[in-house]
Amino acid sequence: MRKKLFIATFGCQMNDYDSLTMARLLNPTHELSDAPENADLIIINTCSIREKAEHKLYSLAGRYRTLKEKNPGLKIAITGCVAQQEGERLIERMPYVDIVLGPQGIYSLPEIVNSNGVGTDKKICINSLDPDFSIPLVKQTAPPPDQVRASVTIMQGCDNFCTYCIVPYVRGREISRDPSHIIQEIRDAVELGAREIILLGQNVNSYGRKHGGRPLKDHPGFSQLLEMADSVPGVKRLRFTTSHPKDVDESTARCYRELSSLCEHIHLPVQSGSTAVLKRMNRHYSREEYLEKIAMLKEACPGITITTDLIVGFPGETEKDFEQTISLLEEVRYDQIFVFKYSPRPGTPASRLPDQIPPDVKTRRIETVLKLQEKIGLEQYAKLEGKEVEILVEAEGREKSGDMQGRTRGNHVVHFPGSPDLLGKLVNVTIERACKHSLRGRLPYPN
Ligand code: SAH
Ligand code: SF4
Ligand code: F3S
Repeated sequence: MRKKLFIATFGCQMNDYDSLTMARLLNPTHELSDAPENADLIIINTCSIREKAEHKLYSLAGRYRTLKEKNPGLKIAITGCVAQQEGERLIERMPYVDIVLGPQGIYSLPEIVNSNGVGTDKKICINSLDPDFSIPLVKQTAPPPDQVRASVTIMQGCDNFCTYCIVPYVRGREISRDPSHIIQEIRDAVELGAREIILLGQNVNSYGRKHGGRPLKDHPGFSQLLEMADSVPGVKRLRFTTSHPKDVDESTARCYRELSSLCEHIHLPVQSGSTAVLKRMNRHYSREEYLEKIAMLKEACPGITITTDLIVGFPGETEKDFEQTISLLEEVRYDQIFVFKYSPRPGTPASRLPDQIPPDVKTRRIETVLKLQEKIGLEQYAKLEGKEVEILVEAEGREKSGDMQGRTRGNHVVHFPGSPDLLGKLVNVTIERACKHSLRGRLPYPN
């Protein structure tokens, strides 16, 4: 009988992907369980992007410690970005932790788990980062958890060194994955039922460059990779995340014009509307250059949905800088934003800058942004009212609601009355009403 595995995942889509990879790697010996209480192995896949994210690990690990007191055979592993950052220190701080693995170390899990079975208390920590690491192709063992949507990593790491960000330190140098592995993984996902593919990386537009620099020999670039993915039979929809504005160019715009599966949505993190702040963030674009890229994309793909990430309270951010962010929101009119209070991260240049912003100012700024965006978002969503749009049906709605849930090509979630046999199908619905973060629709005829 297989043992039981429980995985708690924090952080971004890269971590979701890694958690899935770990479940696949351990599939021969472990089955996934949704209860930590009966697990033989608990993995906490961690994130350290902001202080709050890092703290989640410590409170959760404390809870699992009590499970170990009841079940001494239980193994506890910590993976992901805090594992990379802290390494052995995690075992010193939490002696009940057995295994610590950074993002490249997770591929050794089957070996480790089998040699570190019940009865041994050998501690293991792998948190080196090899700049020439090659991301393995791991066999998919079940349909993707999002049923009709599958994420496929195309690169690992980041070379941009934005001054606030921990990612380059915990995920290492940018490594592009072998294109044949990417295409194989897409084919396999389609075979298992995926209709929508999301290409993942911290900075997807620099795919195909040696550590984000010069192009790799005999290697497709990002737009060529999009073309290859678009031509895989059965891929109805193609998306990617995340793009860095400095690397979005005419070739990206051309893909929006030419590739039928590429959905009309881009997540293009701006971080700040002030050129002075962007400079101190080491973002390599000005407010004007960002707006030019947006104009280029809107021209290539009329009606494109644009979403973004923002940071408020970056060190030295003045009221004037902040007003620039507000005016940028009004100018671009995002459908959705993710806004964060700046959080100093260990070892990053911004954490050493003078003029750290007091917490109450950060709170006021984030609230101002959220309030404005609520209005803009609703107005953006309301533009779809009365329109007929194609949605991919991706899940059942809330229990007993009789609803199904789908998504437009522009990435808006739509709830509509329908039956579960529509799952995985592309259907047209008429949008009746816009809500805060979703739309309400109906099928044109009773099904
Ligand atoms: N590679 C992506 C996403 C990185 S992390 C990109 O470059 O866009 C996701 C978001 O977290 C970032 O876009 C940024 O808005 C936010 N973030 C990163 N570091 C942060 C920090 N120290 N404090 C607050 N927010 C941060
Ligand atoms: Fe972090 Fe910047 Fe890299 Fe994004 S591009 S992961 S924000 S360093
Ligand atoms: Fe967090 Fe690591 Fe992703 S720090 S946001 S899990 S790359």
